[in-house]
Amino acid sequence: MIGQQSKPLPSSNVLRRLDSHLPFALPDITDEEIQAVTAVLRSGWITTGPETKAFEQEFARYLGVSHAVAVNSCTAALHLALEALGVTAGDEVITSTITFTATAEVAEYLGARSRFIDVERDTLNLSPDRVRDTIEREYTRRDREWRHRETGGTLRAIVPVHYGGHPCDMEALLAIAAEYELKVVDDAAHALPASLGGRRIGAMGCPTSFSFYATKTLTTAEGGMFCTDDDALADRVRLMSLHGISRDAWKRYAADGSWSYEVIDAGYKYNLTDIAAALGRVQLRRVELMLERREAIAARYADELASLVALELPTVRPGVGHAWHLYPMRLRLDRLTIDRARFIEELRKRRIGASVHFIPLHKQPFYERRYRYRPTDFPMAEVEYPRLVSLPIYSRMSEEDVGTVVAAVAEIAQEFRA
Ligand SMILES: Cc1ncc(COP(=O)(O)O)c(C=O)c1O
Repeated sequence: MIGQQSKPLPSSNVLRRLDSHLPFALPDITDEEIQAVTAVLRSGWITTGPETKAFEQEFARYLGVSHAVAVNSCTAALHLALEALGVTAGDEVITSTITFTATAEVAEYLGARSRFIDVERDTLNLSPDRVRDTIEREYTRRDREWRHRETGGTLRAIVPVHYGGHPCDMEALLAIAAEYELKVVDDAAHALPASLGGRRIGAMGCPTSFSFYATKTLTTAEGGMFCTDDDALADRVRLMSLHGISRDAWKRYAADGSWSYEVIDAGYKYNLTDIAAALGRVQLRRVELMLERREAIAARYADELASLVALELPTVRPGVGHAWHLYPMRLRLDRLTIDRARFIEELRKRRIGASVHFIPLHKQPFYERRYRYRPTDFPMAEVEYPRLVSLPIYSRMSEEDVGTVVAAVAEIAQEFRA
């Protein structure tokens, strides 16, 4: 159980006592994290420095990859990954429509386009069959590149998203990428720690980006990590993450640093602070324990909600190590007299936070207007999206909290039974 070896903070308990609301998500912060952050605050060095370097090394070792570059968000890591791979104006990348806008917006930063693709029925992950179909249908081979038949854009990469923490079919996606000579830029914002056939997400041989946002399975409040085995890619990401300044730019104010530096390119300000890294290092030591707690919650939901005919619970494919960042269940709307919005409202009335992941990106005004997506191109997402409800799942939930959610969900399903 989480919090046994280090005292959990009382803040959420205070919060619960005040309004007895069960939040949708809560960070799992113990005294250990507080002490680590306090030590950095007292140290005199609060921005990128030795804590960040140690966090990178420990993270790379944990995943079994050669390089980890700490940045201030997963969005930054994805942006840097695409930039380092040479994605530029007029290029295109393929990704899932069921994801957060961060996955797609980074291509836009570079003047490129994210071409959205429909998802698989069971996992709601990017469908390899649809990826292949789309390439065959919409792109044509010219000058050893895949060019879009209408836009003329060059297809560069596939960006898998491990929805909720359930790994994509990486074998199929990597095979398609190899066949069509495309890069894979993995968006693993939800997938720490997740695995497929015993191999960790992040160590699949493709550049991978993780998120340490406040609701994530490991948090630094805001933060992210870029991981790769490719030395040149890691060098480029590191360079561009701190203004495009040559070697050890972060050290230029340190005792053993140098005031002299060269600007190699127009980079970004994406570095992680030592305050955040200190938090991350403690979280990384606890990441497996926190996973165990989320697994236990998922198992209880699976057990205690299974008999409710109005619900369809998440499935886990064989060989999958699920990170359980989210618990996205689906409503059987024909078994209910209410819609999804009302279901969430009923949970809220019972003082339980819930959410929806995600409004498909092809329905979002920016992407819809810009690329004229048609709902008919996304039959699976169109059917599944109105049914999605994410229940709270985080390591600080007590058994009582889980029981409260189960009881509320059961009550709503019963009260509004069709
Ligand atoms: C699938 C996905 N990718 C990327 C991100 C961006 O992560 P960050 O907030 O660390 O930039 C998120 C954020 O929730 C996400 O859900």
